[in-house]
Amino acid sequence: QQTLYFSRHGESEYNVIGRIGGDANLSPRGRLYAQSLAKHIQALNLPSLQIWTSTLQRTKATSAGIQAPQIHLHELDEIWSGECESLSYEELLEHFPKELALRDREKLKYRYPQGESYEDVIRRLTPILIQLECETNVLTISHQAVLRCVLGYFLETPPEEIPYVHVPLHTIIKLTLQGYNYNMETIKMPI
Ligand code: F6P
Repeated sequence: QQTLYFSRHGESEYNVIGRIGGDANLSPRGRLYAQSLAKHIQALNLPSLQIWTSTLQRTKATSAGIQAPQIHLHELDEIWSGECESLSYEELLEHFPKELALRDREKLKYRYPQGESYEDVIRRLTPILIQLECETNVLTISHQAVLRCVLGYFLETPPEEIPYVHVPLHTIIKLTLQGYNYNMETIKMPI
């Protein structure tokens, strides 16, 4: 039975202060999550477990304690917000009010200036999604926007709803193939 696991990175220093993008490291709570994730995953004793992460510090730090082969893929990096990288949503509202309004109107298609849209993320993720479909016991550690696209793909979410899929921090998401459909379970880690 095919089983895939997913998680966002542990809380980052940027999550704490509400900034988007960037390459911040984990906060103290994020480091606690990394430890409990490693403990939980290791206890499952999954045969041929593999870890796929993005190339950013926060996902690598989240997976560091897990004893399994690891690969770091650019395709799993967070949505690139171009000129808006590292801003807070308040700063976005102040400096890019029109952009924010456009984004609110059509979040799936909206592309940040010099950056990406959710549609762009789906496009660059496609080869990884096809590969994942052929794997089992992979734990993918990535980011909010990317995991919305990944879950949207496996759960056949209508495209316009993908940018709003709920992917909380400090939660392991388990997808199990049942017939032709994936069944989703979530495991909230007590942090
Ligand atoms: O805030 C964390 C984060 O991963 C940002 O880096 C990213 O830009 C954002 O979430 C994506 O969520 P949304 O598309 O809702 O802004």
